[in-house]
Amino acid sequence: MRKRETNAYHECIRFMRILAIETSCDETALALLDASGGIRNPKFVPRKNIVSSQIAVHKPFGGVVPNLAKREHLKNLPLLYAREFSGGKEKAPDVVAVTVGPGLEPALWAGIEFARNIHKEIKKKNPKTKLIGVNHLEGHLWSFLLGKNVKPDIFPAVALIVSGGHTVLLQMKSLTSWKKLGETLDDAVGEAFDKVARMLRLPYPGGPEIQRLAERGEPTIPFPRPMLHNKNYNFSFSGLKTSVLYYLRDNPKAKKADVAASFQTAATEVLVKKAMRAAEETRAKSVILSGGVAANKFLRECLEHNAKSRKMKFFAPPMDFNTDNAMMIGTAAYISLLRKKTRKLQANGNLGV
Ligand code: KG4
Ligand code: ZN
Repeated sequence: MRKRETNAYHECIRFMRILAIETSCDETALALLDASGGIRNPKFVPRKNIVSSQIAVHKPFGGVVPNLAKREHLKNLPLLYAREFSGGKEKAPDVVAVTVGPGLEPALWAGIEFARNIHKEIKKKNPKTKLIGVNHLEGHLWSFLLGKNVKPDIFPAVALIVSGGHTVLLQMKSLTSWKKLGETLDDAVGEAFDKVARMLRLPYPGGPEIQRLAERGEPTIPFPRPMLHNKNYNFSFSGLKTSVLYYLRDNPKAKKADVAASFQTAATEVLVKKAMRAAEETRAKSVILSGGVAANKFLRECLEHNAKSRKMKFFAPPMDFNTDNAMMIGTAAYISLLRKKTRKLQANGNLGV
């Protein structure tokens, strides 16, 4: 076989149509995607991508209520599936993939039970369809692959995953092998954004609200930069959050936009400086940012600027794929199957990366 024919052959045997389901928190998400190219050159073509947010349901409580999330997932999943995915004459999926953790266990179980039922239905059309569990954090980790211009030669890399539940720094030797360098010892950075937003009487979810308010303020308040000078790569955000609380108590007339800008700057400085130190010390070629907080324009631009000024490449998911979605679960399903490391179909709220 000539080289071009060999490549076409490999693309074709590694082709998978994947139906992905994500219910780990307050987004009910379903996606259908075509994956190909193998580990060396993975490519993903979205065919359908639905994210149904429960923000309005949880807003009155100022945060996500696990049993309400479960109830909403159980209600929404069959409705969304019937409306958007069933009845077509298209080829049936080769894989049904569902998030099994980390996340809220009642919410995860809702997704897993639904995946089991749908898998039974799909098997009637395609008896070879597999049903697999996926790690939500691996979904975030590989979500940058959904962007354009991702070439295979980007490793070694440093990856920073920042979400509502996690703040993790990884050293990636390749797409499929990594080592955890550090993580938060208390609050995740997204959680700190949400809690500070509550102190400022901004609605849930607080991250985007803080970003908006910060654009009108100046970072004039010297909030602490927790663990910035520690030698390790761990983080801590609960002290920063408490400093904001005390500052607001002692300065009731403070300009809220300045508080938001100062908090955002303090959190970003710690994340960027520690990620860049890790990137330099591990001689990384690239820096990868993902997770819901990767939607933060200030953080994204700071990290990109710092990486590029050191001649490193910078990758982050396209804007639609920062916060929870099922396309990233489909992406992780593909890579997990190719590396033969799928997860048990059992909800695990504390699953690590
Ligand atoms: O990844 P994600 O959707 O859910 C988890 O896996 O936790 O992340 C949600 C988190 C929330 O804390 C939310 O406030 C934060 O991401 N977030 C942001 C922004 N957009 C979402 N934080 C800061 N700036 C944003 N623009
Ligand atoms: Zn997430």
